[in-house]
Amino acid sequence: MDDKKSVGEYAASLVKDGDIVGLGTGSTTAFTIKELGRRIKEEEISIYGVPTSFQAKLLAIESKIPITTLDEHDIDIAIDGADEVNPDLYLLKGRGGALLQEKIIDYCAKRFIVVCEEKKLVQTLGKSFPAPVEVFPMAYRNVLDSLKAMGKPVLRIAEKKDGPVITDNGNFIIDLYTTINNPKSMEKDLNNIPGIFENGIFTCKCEVILMKNGKIEFIKSK
Ligand code: A5P
Repeated sequence: MDDKKSVGEYAASLVKDGDIVGLGTGSTTAFTIKELGRRIKEEEISIYGVPTSFQAKLLAIESKIPITTLDEHDIDIAIDGADEVNPDLYLLKGRGGALLQEKIIDYCAKRFIVVCEEKKLVQTLGKSFPAPVEVFPMAYRNVLDSLKAMGKPVLRIAEKKDGPVITDNGNFIIDLYTTINNPKSMEKDLNNIPGIFENGIFTCKCEVILMKNGKIEFIKSK
């Protein structure tokens, strides 16, 4: 079976009746959201989802998962994907441009589960993906300039729209191509630049689920 499907569906089995669930974005958590919909229908569990993007929200509605907000509830468990995972279980996220809401929801969850394929494990973040930052549009040129000291920044251009990618929050994304040797300090440094709302380096505690030799493997932060 597809590894994404296996880990995505397995993560859904960790959700308990009554939980408020952070619903991550991407192709792996899509399996989690669909499986949660199945559990609501067939096992009659009662949960609420807090989506991290329009993608997650639309899929949750389609899967008949009742939706709530951070205004009303705390998150018991968040389940989200990742683009890279280093040995400290620090993550690089935001390939799909959803990093701002993902970070807000994942960081405040009582339990944060990351679902990914084994190939996402890297020694050093930044190996195969850039670090994305979400930027207020009026500040993009100044942010590009500031980021040049840290690597190669590139404004993300849309594929089925002319011009830049516009996030779910109405902002631009700049992808910073660089090697991330110290994720904790780079996460803070990036957010210190005026105009940057958030970045795709995630250094909070998490549990990673992946498939190894055909079996589910759990890795926990130290
Ligand atoms: C969305 O912007 C990302 O942070 C995704 O969570 C991440 O790219 C993982 O996506 P896949 O599950 O599709 O690999």
